[in-house]
Amino acid sequence: MKSITFSNGDQMPIIGLGTWKSKPGEVYQAVLWAIEAGYRHIDCAAIYDNEKEVGNALDKAFKDGLVKREDLFITSKLWNSNHRLDDVVPALKKTLKDLQLDYLDLYLIHWPVSFKKGVSFAQTREEFYTYGDVPLAQTWEGMEEAKNLGLTKHIGVSNFNISKLQEIINSGTIAPEMLQVELHPFLPQNKLVNFCKEKGILLTAYSPLGSGDRAASSKKANEPSLLENETVKELASKHGVTAAQVLVSYSVHRDIAVIPKSVNQDRISQNLASIEVNLDEADMEKLANIGTAYRFIDGSFFTGAQSPYKLTDLWEKE
Ligand code: A2P
Repeated sequence: MKSITFSNGDQMPIIGLGTWKSKPGEVYQAVLWAIEAGYRHIDCAAIYDNEKEVGNALDKAFKDGLVKREDLFITSKLWNSNHRLDDVVPALKKTLKDLQLDYLDLYLIHWPVSFKKGVSFAQTREEFYTYGDVPLAQTWEGMEEAKNLGLTKHIGVSNFNISKLQEIINSGTIAPEMLQVELHPFLPQNKLVNFCKEKGILLTAYSPLGSGDRAASSKKANEPSLLENETVKELASKHGVTAAQVLVSYSVHRDIAVIPKSVNQDRISQNLASIEVNLDEADMEKLANIGTAYRFIDGSFFTGAQSPYKLTDLWEKE
């Protein structure tokens, strides 16, 4: 499996299994199928509310001798309600307990948005903290502490734009090692990707297939479909593969890690086999000129009338 490499030489397999939206009753089997199929990278998060089941699957995989801990790359993410300095390490320890692990390979700040302790999704003004209450630099200090304690090998962020990345680079002792954001042909984020490449920050693409299994309440009317896009389908037929495989391969060809979510055994295998798809320069050019621009995860669930945050706190202007 192709990997991307951290500055200390550690490697992250470029295709991982996504677990957002994988239900507790499904994710156990999905993780075991993925490991059996050859996945060595699993992307998790506390807010996905399934880390205990992922942990049970990892435990089973280790006990059955399917894989050793050191051969897996496990990511998790700090939820918005644990951004205060004193809350970061305990939140990571809870995730480690749920995942039944001694350390993570990568821990990310999930969103640059802060909630009061115990709040899952802030609705009222009182449930939010502002940047004045809890500066991102404070959360990052907690992330650095987690790394220094050996609880995670690498630290990074998710859903950060250039100015927020720069803020962390300026304030911290350790620079973010990874940025995980939505990336696919409808949202290539070239400016952000180039910034990260210049600064030596690795990238992971989430929602590479458009996350069609999101709750209806978080979908807009008439969303475009990546899997049904004509250019994607044309390239799939040219290479004799599926549309999903073209989309996974698109990130691989940009040297960006990619975490397609599936709980279906065939699709789990199919997504990993995308590594074999050889998109050429003309194919990548076609995808670069796909003619549709769209962000599926628009962050508006954090920026309602009661929130101190605005969409400009989240996203890069393209
Ligand atoms: P399922 O879990 O039933 O396979 P994303 O990774 O962008 O969040 O997209 C996840 C969605 O895409 C899920 O609905 C998932 O369904 C579906 N999916 C995953 N792999 C494939 C595939 N190879 N072909 C079609 N749909 C897929």
